[in-house]
Amino acid sequence: MSNKDKINKKRRLVTEDLLKCSWTYYKFIYKMSNILIIGANRGLGLEFVKQYSNTNHNIIATTRNKNNSTELNEINNIDIAELDLTSDASVNNFVTSIESQKIDILIHNAGIFSDEQLKEDLDIDVWMNEMRINAVIPIILARKLKNNLKMGSDKKVVFISSQMGSIDDNYSGRFYFYRSSKSALNSAAKSLSIDWKEDDISVLILHPGWVKTDMGGTSAKLEIPESITRMINVISELNLDNSGSFLNYEGKKLEW
Ligand SMILES: NC(=O)c1ccc[n+]([C@@H]2O[C@H](COP(=O)([O-])OP(=O)(O)OC[C@H]3O[C@@H](n4cnc5c(N)ncnc54)[C@H](OP(=O)(O)O)[C@@H]3O)[C@@H](O)[C@H]2O)c1
Repeated sequence: MSNKDKINKKRRLVTEDLLKCSWTYYKFIYKMSNILIIGANRGLGLEFVKQYSNTNHNIIATTRNKNNSTELNEINNIDIAELDLTSDASVNNFVTSIESQKIDILIHNAGIFSDEQLKEDLDIDVWMNEMRINAVIPIILARKLKNNLKMGSDKKVVFISSQMGSIDDNYSGRFYFYRSSKSALNSAAKSLSIDWKEDDISVLILHPGWVKTDMGGTSAKLEIPESITRMINVISELNLDNSGSFLNYEGKKLEW
């Protein structure tokens, strides 16, 4: 082979390599979804981040305090933002900070269960706070992020609710704050699913099962990774036709 042929062959190989690289890069960029997970420093939220980040998605994870989020900080290639749902200023600052970014999937996972509701005297302020964190802010925040969702491709909103918010399924009573806050979330999320259909945004109300987290306790039936793997599966099946459904982690329809 002449020197000229050798140079041409080398050029051809380099060009082919470059084309292969840019195609891989193209597929990588365009297949990735931006997934926002609210309340991601422990429990179910943290595992959502771990499993979604393993499949090459762009993750924005929120925590109340970055410095106290050791496990979250150890996960590579994710964005971490501070957000405290008890503070209007924090909610507004967060929304402004991601104003220009598309969100493909919004998972509102953060929630609370106050032990105060197990006492005989029910405290109004504690009840109101549980309503605020579990029901009111999830809907207000999602609505503030509507433009980001419209910029995305998947256009999915997932509210992590609870079977304990089901009125039909309440056979054991008690837990006034938690049950009523999750019922309110379900009701408002259902409205959102109807209102946003014309914007092609689908909404899912999802029960994770009874899971071994700080909230679920050690007697819970499910391990965290199993609940999350199954919920990710259910989220992948969400579309405009089944938008507004109240499902469990196995994709089973729950009673309202
Ligand atoms: N585990 C179960 O069996 C079960 C069953 C049904 C439904 N759920 C629902 O699943 C979701 C996750 O529960 P989990 O079991 O993972 O609970 P968890 O371990 O107690 O974690 C709750 C998460 O919510 C965040 N959060 C609480 N208050 C917040 C606030 N004011 N601002 C921002 N973030 C706040 C927490 O952040 P901090 O660490 O800063 O507090 C934490 O990241 C909740 O919505 C819960 O109601 C759980």
